[in-house]
Amino acid sequence: MPKINVALVGVGNCASAFVQGLKYYSTCNEEESVGLRNAALGNFRPKDVEVVAAFDIDGRKVGKDVSGAIFEEPNNVSRLAEVPPSGVIVNMGPVLDGLGEYTKHVVHMSNHPEAKVAKVLKESKAEIVLNLLPSGAVKASQWYAEQALISGCAFVNATPSFVASDVTWAKRFETAGLPIVGDDLIDQVGATTLHKTLLQLLSINGVHITETYQLDVGGGTESLDTLDRTKDVKRAVKTKSVEAALPYTAAVVAGSTDYVDFLQNRRDSYFWIKGVHFCNVPMQIDIKLSTIDAPNAGSVLLDVVRAVKMALERKIKGAVMPVCAYGFKHPPHLVSLEAAEKMFAEFVTEKK
Ligand SMILES: NC(=O)c1ccc[n+]([C@@H]2O[C@H](COP(=O)([O-])OP(=O)(O)OC[C@H]3O[C@@H](n4cnc5c(N)ncnc54)[C@H](O)[C@@H]3O)[C@@H](O)[C@H]2O)c1
Repeated sequence: MPKINVALVGVGNCASAFVQGLKYYSTCNEEESVGLRNAALGNFRPKDVEVVAAFDIDGRKVGKDVSGAIFEEPNNVSRLAEVPPSGVIVNMGPVLDGLGEYTKHVVHMSNHPEAKVAKVLKESKAEIVLNLLPSGAVKASQWYAEQALISGCAFVNATPSFVASDVTWAKRFETAGLPIVGDDLIDQVGATTLHKTLLQLLSINGVHITETYQLDVGGGTESLDTLDRTKDVKRAVKTKSVEAALPYTAAVVAGSTDYVDFLQNRRDSYFWIKGVHFCNVPMQIDIKLSTIDAPNAGSVLLDVVRAVKMALERKIKGAVMPVCAYGFKHPPHLVSLEAAEKMFAEFVTEKK
């Protein structure tokens, strides 16, 4: 099988879990692939995905082999696999708005000269640019989308910056004959998905929800950046997504709240649901979900990357709705969880 050549933009926690996952699952057969939603997707397995280029701005990562850079601070995701040297060296990219007021104290700017990103993408034969920049790096995310266009690469936007869901950007990829997917990756054990599923279950059973919230705290650099720059946008995206799970209007708040450094890469999510059931009798749910943030992205990222390779093979252009709906919180159009699952299943089993 041909390899799926991926360029990483941002070698943070998420990239670390992704690269470690590629090694972890490289030798597994179907039965051994515990933790993956799809061991095989179409004809593709995790071992078919190869990181061929990487970009960052932190002096502890730039100039290093990706296998070592993924374990450098301020990354704090745990060791999941021993990753051998790959020969792929992390390049210095332009900073643009990559650093926020809070993260500029934890990211150490590299003094390496900036690489010619489009040239690196072309020479490395990258096919898919995987954007894992901080959520506040809106301009930088768009700049890398531009580099993908120049280099003839597909673009996967895991960040909450609006790119795939922006009509103008989607159109530009369509015109260039390239696929784009995003925005804001859905986690495997997703707080938003859990919240929506609970609300749907209660609602189907005749419970009337009056109010609900979902708040979370985390200890990764991303939580620090969110606190500084993207709290409002994340709250808007999540709240809209959760509201869509109910067939009526209720008081809904869903969003990230704070950074707790000693949690390391852990994320704790709190859910509160209040409603009434038979004879207007009240009920409430008060629960906590605890996950490690970066590995929580791994399975969905692996599915998305393989599905985008299928889109490239089928010459699909512009925003690929079945992949956007399955893998992202803010696709071009919001659809129900069931509809998203169905669209994705049909897409990945479709004959070329
Ligand atoms: N479970 C998850 O981890 C998850 C789920 C959904 C979405 N996301 C999104 O994925 C993205 C990455 O998350 P993370 O936890 O890995 O973040 P992170 O802060 O650990 O990593 C970001 C990396 O980008 C680098 N960077 C900053 N500016 C740059 C620039 N201009 N050019 C190149 N590199 C630059 C930083 O040095 C850092 O290595 C975020 O936008 C997050 O919202 C993650």
